[in-house]
Amino acid sequence: ITRLLTHSFKCKRLGKPWLEPHFRRSSSSKQKQQHQLRMPSQSLFNKTIALLFSKRSTRTRLASETSVTLLGGNAMFLGRDDIQLGVNETPRDTARVIGGMTEGIFARVGKHEEIEELAKYSPVPVLNALSDLWHPTQILADLLTLHEHAHLFNSPQQQQKSSSSESTKRQKVLPDLRPLTVAYLGDSANVLHDMLVTYPRLGHSLRVASPAKYRAPEAVWKRVEELGCDKGIWWGEDPKEAVKGADVVVTDTWISMGQEAEKAQRLKDFEGYQITEALCREGGANPDWKFLHCLPRKQDEVDDEVFYGPRSLVFPEADNRKWTTMAVFDLYFGKWDVKAAGDAD
Ligand code: CP
Ligand code: NVA
Repeated sequence: ITRLLTHSFKCKRLGKPWLEPHFRRSSSSKQKQQHQLRMPSQSLFNKTIALLFSKRSTRTRLASETSVTLLGGNAMFLGRDDIQLGVNETPRDTARVIGGMTEGIFARVGKHEEIEELAKYSPVPVLNALSDLWHPTQILADLLTLHEHAHLFNSPQQQQKSSSSESTKRQKVLPDLRPLTVAYLGDSANVLHDMLVTYPRLGHSLRVASPAKYRAPEAVWKRVEELGCDKGIWWGEDPKEAVKGADVVVTDTWISMGQEAEKAQRLKDFEGYQITEALCREGGANPDWKFLHCLPRKQDEVDDEVFYGPRSLVFPEADNRKWTTMAVFDLYFGKWDVKAAGDAD
């Protein structure tokens, strides 16, 4: 995880300047400046990545298409009405055919078994762009955002120490983040599930509040325990208790894609879980708590004051979907066949 985050930070540092308007203008001095810039990795040059989306997407689609472009490749978007999958063709045959003509598959599916099936039969790597159980690329963006805002959480002494270090001065390394208390209120869905198997491994503690009937499914909890993450997780039903001491408060929609028919019941079940200033104050969150949300967002789970207020990091978080996706594609699609796993450069 740390390696992916470090690589994401590097992708952002290399990729962002190439997108600045003044680097695109062609004056000779600007061109000169441009030549002094390092190019982002072109590991997808002459390669095609299939973006197989059976559900809607704004961020994940944008992040993946723009990342492939920056890495020098071609992104082929295959929406659910575009191909034979699910109507005339099985995931097994689809995986073999797409994998025979492309160098990677980024797939957003319904049931998690669908992506397992694609991965089993694809001759090229398959990465998860969201399933009902997991949303791994979202969590990388969340963590990158927290690292980039580490100064908001550090004590003045910690901050002075880290800003005086030579490497931070050159802004070439991922800023250190102190162990945080992260509270999640709401539905036990894909975004939370990846938080459960990630944050405790990085030294952060998680405090989750969700109504009893929405506890994480067996398969997820099994993975949490296998990784020893359960020791870093407090789980209860009371949202106020969950935000106690929280440095970061996180939520997701209460009605995930595919659960629209359960809307009325879910709105009732999650009553009292809306994130507001009052709830976090009364629950005893760190007075400087910050807010994250994967988006898209509804007012049910967080009010406008928090969502659009100074605590909210949601738009830098959304932007970071691009740089983290770029890092993942570079390593797992661009360099997978040259044992990139050993060398992030
Ligand atoms: N956060 C996220 O995955 O957004 P999209 O569904 O718009 O891709
Ligand atoms: N839990 C949400 C996440 C959207 C990014 C869903 O699956 O719809």
